[in-house]
Amino acid sequence: MKKPTYYITTPIYYSSGNFHLGHCYTTVICDALARFKRMDGYDVFYLTGTDEHGQKVQQKAEAAGVTPKQYVDKLHDQIVRLWKTLNISYDKFIRTTDGYHEETVSKIYEKLLASGDLYKSSYEGWYCTPCESFWTESQLVDGKCPDCGREVSLQKEESYFFRLSKYQDRLIEFYEQNPDFISPKSRMNEMINNFIKPGLKDLCVSRTTFDWGVKLPFDSKHVAYVWIDALANYISALGYLQEDHSLFDKFWPADLHLVGKEIVRFHTIIWPALLMALDLPLPKKVYGHGWLLFGNDKMSKSKGNVVDPFVLADLYGADVLRYFLLREIPFGSDGNYTNEALLNRTNADLVNDLGNLVSRTTAMVAQYFGGTIPRHGEYCELDRELISLCEGTLAKVRADMDNLSAPDALCDVFRIVQRANKYIDETAPWTLNKNGDKQRLATVLYVLCECIRFAATLLIPFVPTTAERIFDKIGLPLPRDFKGLAHFGGIGDGVTVTKGDNLFNRIDVAKELWKLDKMAEEQNAQNDAPQTEQAEQAEQITIDDFAKVKLVTAKVLSCEKVAKSDKLLLFKLQAGEEVRQVVSGIAQYYTPEYMIGKTVVLVSNLKPAKIRGVESNGMILCASDGKKVVFVSPEAEIGSGKEVR
Ligand code: ME8
Repeated sequence: MKKPTYYITTPIYYSSGNFHLGHCYTTVICDALARFKRMDGYDVFYLTGTDEHGQKVQQKAEAAGVTPKQYVDKLHDQIVRLWKTLNISYDKFIRTTDGYHEETVSKIYEKLLASGDLYKSSYEGWYCTPCESFWTESQLVDGKCPDCGREVSLQKEESYFFRLSKYQDRLIEFYEQNPDFISPKSRMNEMINNFIKPGLKDLCVSRTTFDWGVKLPFDSKHVAYVWIDALANYISALGYLQEDHSLFDKFWPADLHLVGKEIVRFHTIIWPALLMALDLPLPKKVYGHGWLLFGNDKMSKSKGNVVDPFVLADLYGADVLRYFLLREIPFGSDGNYTNEALLNRTNADLVNDLGNLVSRTTAMVAQYFGGTIPRHGEYCELDRELISLCEGTLAKVRADMDNLSAPDALCDVFRIVQRANKYIDETAPWTLNKNGDKQRLATVLYVLCECIRFAATLLIPFVPTTAERIFDKIGLPLPRDFKGLAHFGGIGDGVTVTKGDNLFNRIDVAKELWKLDKMAEEQNAQNDAPQTEQAEQAEQITIDDFAKVKLVTAKVLSCEKVAKSDKLLLFKLQAGEEVRQVVSGIAQYYTPEYMIGKTVVLVSNLKPAKIRGVESNGMILCASDGKKVVFVSPEAEIGSGKEVR
């Protein structure tokens, strides 16, 4: 029989780096859902990726002195490493810089233009030159840029617009007919009251003030608006408008877009309207989850706490992090992160409940039956209570997962674990052994091993490595699906357990908190250290290292502003015989006229780089006190092309 399909997506991550535990939240939940659905008989496609275009990426790359592609490549590698560390089982990883995606975005714009849903006009707004951002009147703070506090001016930019307003009524109708489309329900009201009811305006979907994006095929001055580019990933990844669109035919529409609450608006207004314009079916559900809070703020920095998922996974293991994220935060709401909560949750559930059940049971099978799980005798009333609990749990967990509540699902699985621990105390196997009641002892241990098999099977989607270790310990192969949970009694004859290491070791919370605080303090001290101090601490270099940098004097032949940039100047420099083109970010400190004829110091063996699409061959040396920037010049006339040492 053909399996039903299930297409689930995370947002594609914005390549800004410094990934913290909050970033892992969406992806870990999606992973648990994808794994659960796979085991529950679905043909799953789980998509994640990176959102690599846009002005901010371009600016950060410029600041780092690298090309945008070099910048996003590094972050892409970092996030792939993070998902590997956390055991994320995605089926495809998309990058918005992938060629096939860029082509699809171009084709989408062409389609919209052809259907009349895209038109050219101009965008008017308050422009902050240093930030290169447009703001509406209401966004200004005291009439100034809300980001940097500087003066703004009223400017116009030629842009393409998407006829979003046209879809207002169809969107409302769609929400009414599909009341579960936006979940949780509260987010639906928020969208309708805050955005739809005040009236949808056409959306500006192209920019001309930067070029790190998908160029519009019919007007290459414009790049695609980053959100249209990003949202399109959900269909381009499946081959929409590409030669091989078999995945699209099979999996679209998506069953679930899981996103953080701050981006629900893009996924429930812009995205469905765009799909309507493309005449495509709409996703079945968009779920906006809450935030992992640090203090009372959305976690976005690592101040005062160790929240680096690489560090935490290294210290405690990926499953500890996965379990915490899935269990601790009530789904749909915000949840607080503290190191203490992480450590206490681990001790209570993973060490005490799960770890103890597995180690006590395997130790008793080893001690009383030489390591082989015994056959059970007749079941009594008490046994039957556990049997029916085990047999009823899959249905409950399935319902919890359909409600997208991983905490409830885990509570249900842990009910088996907790009940089984209590059963050990109630049946007191050590007394049965002392009294020579081998028959009853065998049944009790069989029931316990079955409880472990049920719980561990259901735990596979949530803590896959731990579940695998449990199956190793009880001597059974790792199940691929839930079929073995139909009936209690799946363990056959001759299965041998191995006690081995503990699943989890008890954490000394006070000691560990002290250690984590120290690590956070060191991290913060590093973040806060003034530049000069950091420079002093920097590694010393040898004269040979310094000799690698070729510095020469150069005379400015010509100098002009780089189009659409307020920071960059384009220089032609005479360096001895050679004429060099160099881009330098000093436009806010010098006019082109002032620079012409000046002698500067050029780093002449720097790898060429493209800055704002303009080739730069070298770098002009400057000094800066953090506020102003001055270029470095020889103290007396010496000519160009002379070595500086
Ligand atoms: O939004 N708690 O990317 P992103 C919970 N590129 N979730 C958090 C979080 C926190 N403290 N911080 C971040 C983008 N997230 C766009 C998406 S999709 C077409 C384009 C979640 O890297 C956030 O809510 O800023 C989002 O779901 C995901 O991390 C990526 O955020």
